[in-house]
Amino acid sequence: MGKSLDNPNIIIDVHLDGQDPKALRAEIHDGLLSSPRRLPTKYFYDDRGSELYERICELPEYYQARTEHQILTRFADEVAATSRANELVELGSGAATKTRVLLNAMARAERLRFYVPFDFSEGIVRRVAHELVNEYAGLQVHGVVGDFLVHLEHIPDGGRRLVVFLGGTIGNMGPEAALAFLTSIQAGMALDDYFLLGVQLITDVDRLEAAYNDAAGVTAEFNKNILHVMQAMVGADFDPDAFEHVARYNHEQHRIEMHLRSVRDQVVHLPDLNLTLTLAEGEEILTEISTKYDRQQTEALLSKAGFDMVAWYTDPEELHGLALTKKS
Ligand code: SAH
Ligand code: TRP
Repeated sequence: MGKSLDNPNIIIDVHLDGQDPKALRAEIHDGLLSSPRRLPTKYFYDDRGSELYERICELPEYYQARTEHQILTRFADEVAATSRANELVELGSGAATKTRVLLNAMARAERLRFYVPFDFSEGIVRRVAHELVNEYAGLQVHGVVGDFLVHLEHIPDGGRRLVVFLGGTIGNMGPEAALAFLTSIQAGMALDDYFLLGVQLITDVDRLEAAYNDAAGVTAEFNKNILHVMQAMVGADFDPDAFEHVARYNHEQHRIEMHLRSVRDQVVHLPDLNLTLTLAEGEEILTEISTKYDRQQTEALLSKAGFDMVAWYTDPEELHGLALTKKS
């Protein structure tokens, strides 16, 4: 745990414990040897990965971030009025770009007191905390650096909460994991807290695939960043140039699947895992899924997790949805 001493309005707790290094290594090892081969998606977001994701959000092809921003701009006052929250808790807060729209609405309603950004990436939590206490007079920021799949209980006790999980990050979990995660959020909420979930909606394949195959190659760089993380974490000698980025839509599971495809026969050494990996040309490693939902699927998932939908907000083209919910 660490506290920030230089600003009285900032507290940052760091929980990077609870992660048994042996279990983490076993997870990487088993993923690489399973069929299909995969790497755990949680390793995308080191500080460099978080910066690359911010750049993705500005790409012309990546309509998702812009669209969610537009929906929030249109409905944030209504969300603030309905929830009457004085505390905003944001899971996977990242650069907190869209968060400001909600903070502005809470400030206009004269209720804004606390913001709790929760993210893996310590660098970005600290940066956002400093930016926001400067932008919002009187705001107290209590950041939590940790894994929201493990450390949810460390969200500090506070006021009347609006918990938000934006960006369609829920789509990066498979169906069971998504349900388990939403259930654990629900369990930690008080009866008059609200939860706002952002989901990416099913739309035409060309548009979806373009969003993950940008012309500037930023998504490819982001995808390959996981190889750099593996170098740092387990000493893997992955050569990022020996892989190409592949993203395609899986219709049955209504999700984009991101892969790294070996461009030649190659051998990768992972000394910390005691593993030598032989990859044939064209062989793929699955690195990320990004599931798209429709309104019914979203409502069904939320309802299973113990939430009632209070409002559903979308854009005119129905590319993105925001579900405002309460505990049932
Ligand atoms: N909410 C922001 C960022 C989305 S990117 C937006 O909408 O633009 C997803 C964010 O979730 C990243 O910042 C990543 O670091 C964080 N994240 C992903 N998995 C996480 C986990 N298990 N625990 C904590 N943070 C996580
Ligand atoms: N939550 C984002 C999404 O699924 C994350 C993301 C955007 C992403 N582009 C990516 C993850 C490329 C991996 C690779 O849309």
